[in-house]
Amino acid sequence: MDIAATQEDALAKIAAAQDLEVVEGLRVAYLGKQGSVSGLLKTLGGMSPDERQVQGPRIHGLREAVTAALAERKAALEDAALERRLAAETVDLTLPAAEAPRGSIHPVSQVMDELAEIFADLGFAVASGPEIEDDWHNFTALNMPESHPARAMHDTLYFPSTAPDARRMLLRTHTSPVQIRTMLSQGAPLRIIAPGRVYRSDSDATHTPMFHQVEGLVIDKGIHLGHLKWTLETFLKAYFERDDIVLRLRPSYFPFTEPSVEVDTGYSFEGGRRVIGGSGDDPGHAWMELLGSGMVNRHVIAAAGLDPDEWQGFAFGVGVDRLAMLKYGMNDLRAFFDGDVRWLKHYGFSMLDMPTLSGGVGTPA
Ligand code: DAH
Repeated sequence: MDIAATQEDALAKIAAAQDLEVVEGLRVAYLGKQGSVSGLLKTLGGMSPDERQVQGPRIHGLREAVTAALAERKAALEDAALERRLAAETVDLTLPAAEAPRGSIHPVSQVMDELAEIFADLGFAVASGPEIEDDWHNFTALNMPESHPARAMHDTLYFPSTAPDARRMLLRTHTSPVQIRTMLSQGAPLRIIAPGRVYRSDSDATHTPMFHQVEGLVIDKGIHLGHLKWTLETFLKAYFERDDIVLRLRPSYFPFTEPSVEVDTGYSFEGGRRVIGGSGDDPGHAWMELLGSGMVNRHVIAAAGLDPDEWQGFAFGVGVDRLAMLKYGMNDLRAFFDGDVRWLKHYGFSMLDMPTLSGGVGTPA
């Protein structure tokens, strides 16, 4: 038996093996129980000591060479397989997404972001308060004591009372309690908007039991109605992205403001939809009531722990859903809360389209 020739032949076959199965087959053929190298090892027992002395090292050398060659080839093939897999599974994170992103920003969220952006530019911070409110913050501190008739107009959703002397809990009927909470926690001066959910027991095409408001509050020294009018005008021009916003301030009544004004804005019909702009007295135009506002009532400033002789301010409250409808042309409020993906697809906004003053606070998607 020419061991050198056997070894050469075996190593050549191992080196030529192209996959792991072939390598395993060769291992069995050489080193398995019935394998040829194993067979050679067995012949050592039948040899004379002299012969064994010569053949022993050669056969063991053959076995070691074949074992090492098999291990090396196996490792090389495994490495190559891994390389191929890595190459095949490469993900280029810089490529654009294969599928258009799903989901969209709800118009209410979009408008709230727009409001935050516009008012941030005027130095207003965003404040918030709880939706489960107490009677005192929602009414009493806002100059609506227990017997006040304005309370009845709010269609309040109350929680069952827990104890006779506990503060009565309710779902806040407006964002105005955030005025009180912010004055109490931050003191004065103050410039905030407070967007959020509010609740009333009311439901038809233009009323839903939950809707959205944004409250505005400025507390400082020497604040007067002129500041209020300028702020609202500046806000509405930025929001509707047009300069011809004309406001009409009408005397009104809210318990938490004195004097109180209802703010109307001129609009016209274009293509069957209401478009804000122009004076309501212009031909083809009319006035629409947009929001409530006024100078913060002294009682409210005092209830919130500030001295009304030192601090004055103005406040306003406006429906966010209504603002969205007027700008983006929806006509049924209930659709806002149906969660119908077709509606969201039509009226929703791309999550990559954050409103900014420089980029436009709400160009339709
Ligand atoms: N809270 C009022 C409402 O829900 C809206 C409102 C009116 C808010 C006048 C104000 C305001 O801050 O000054 O009907």
